[in-house]
Amino acid sequence: MPSLNWLTRSEDIQAASGVPFRALTEVPELSYGGGSTDNILIHGDNLEALRALLPFYAGQVKCIYIDPPYNTGSAFEHYDDNLEHATWLKMMYPRLVLLRELLAENGSMWISIDDDEGHYLKVLCDEIFGRRNFVANVVWQKKHTRSNDATWFSDNHDHILCYAKDKISWRPNLLARTENSLGNYSNPDNDPRGVWASGPCHAKTPSEKTMYPITTPTGRKVYPPPGTSWRFSKDNFEALIADKRIYFGKTGNNIPRYKRFITDVQEGFVPLTIWLRDEAGDNQEGKTEIKKLFDDTPFTTPKPERLIERILTLGSENGDLVLDSFLGSGTTAAVALKMGRRFIGVELGEQAKTHCAVRLRKVIDGEQGGISKSVNWQGGGGFRFYELGAMMFDEFGRIQESITFGCLAAHIWFSETKTPYQPFRPNCLRSAVLGIHKGNAYSLLFNGILHDRSVNGGNVLNRTTLQLLRDDLAGADYKKLIVYGEWSKLLPKTMKRENIEFRQIPYKVKK
Ligand SMILES: C[S@@+](CC[C@H](N)C(=O)[O-])C[C@H]1O[C@@H](n2cnc3c(N)ncnc32)[C@H](O)[C@@H]1O
Repeated sequence: MPSLNWLTRSEDIQAASGVPFRALTEVPELSYGGGSTDNILIHGDNLEALRALLPFYAGQVKCIYIDPPYNTGSAFEHYDDNLEHATWLKMMYPRLVLLRELLAENGSMWISIDDDEGHYLKVLCDEIFGRRNFVANVVWQKKHTRSNDATWFSDNHDHILCYAKDKISWRPNLLARTENSLGNYSNPDNDPRGVWASGPCHAKTPSEKTMYPITTPTGRKVYPPPGTSWRFSKDNFEALIADKRIYFGKTGNNIPRYKRFITDVQEGFVPLTIWLRDEAGDNQEGKTEIKKLFDDTPFTTPKPERLIERILTLGSENGDLVLDSFLGSGTTAAVALKMGRRFIGVELGEQAKTHCAVRLRKVIDGEQGGISKSVNWQGGGGFRFYELGAMMFDEFGRIQESITFGCLAAHIWFSETKTPYQPFRPNCLRSAVLGIHKGNAYSLLFNGILHDRSVNGGNVLNRTTLQLLRDDLAGADYKKLIVYGEWSKLLPKTMKRENIEFRQIPYKVKK
């Protein structure tokens, strides 16, 4: 497949697999509200944050929206948007790889971009997501005024690239019908089946078989217009008339029209690829919304809530997990909360604290701007604020002291199974079992999980710890037991007989 080339391409396309694993550390004083603990706001570089999320959320995110720096050459107050072209590609490639890994099999990814990098981004995404999974390039009318001082064109649209993880099975949800779109429907004959709109009864491609006269209720004989024939066979036409699905006008003397009831058509609209500002907002609307939230230093390039609402409507359902790893002022997280989605947001700049966290607190308290009124937002929910914590390994390859059992467990489980980690016994504080995958049971003796930190104790595989593991696994279906620990005191013949494989920490833990 043809691909894009740039100076550091060969190292950049490998970069995602070399990102070191770091723990996420909660900052409780910046967390807020209650409810789902799945709402997460992370302050830090999204490359490391996405890597930190993988062991917990790989394949779990239903809808990803990102609005990365467009590389327009501007320096905004809250971030720099002026990277050398190849540096921008280097920045995007590994992040897109990790984002794809987080996406659910029935998920979709949406990316805002303009003409500076849009077409290069399309080629990168074709390579990472597969050309066959490209869904659409939406043109969003971001501005309605003309800049008459523009040298060439007055730019008034952005692109939104949409990719599915698997386009064959993915379908967008429908958009709600607007009052305007219902304007064509009425019920002049008081049909008990409800409002309807009418269409012609003739087909443009004529056929001899459907060229016959129809008698109106007033007794007049009518034929299809010249060069056409009826859409229906004579029998079908008569059946439709009997079922009152054909309308001959108020007096019963007009040419027949076919009635399409609103209940017969789809519940909503298939999305178009051009999104105008009156239906999806524009940049000005985004700025107005943010100014109402922050009097002093509003964020410079926010998206309007209606734009994100549309994307989340098409790409997710109530309760689904959505992610934005270039969170900016927090629009995606705010809209996700208001729409009943769970969210993960990542932001590198200080605005993670000064804007995202502050905005989310207001939303939880019932803020009434943006889409609040149209979705009847009453407040509620919560989020947890995280910083990127310690690297898992120090410079000598040792596991850092601050790494918890849960963190190492998730890392080992994911590197072994490539599936997200969920505790085997969520309510048991002494379980060293990580889970079972493809006939292998995995366990980890680390950090005194069995409440025994003695030299030959809880972090060592011996007869006692083995018995505890077997007890924990009682009734489970597995063949081999794989144990990560500091040391094994079991004899090789015992390990063979019991089908146990021992992996020593830290040497056998994947970097
Ligand atoms: C165009 S803004 C996003 C605006 C956002 N859609 C909104 O409605 O407010 C891009 C954001 O990405 C952030 N960003 C840039 N590089 C990043 C990185 N490596 N990790 C996390 N965030 C990053 C910038 O700090 C900036 O806030």
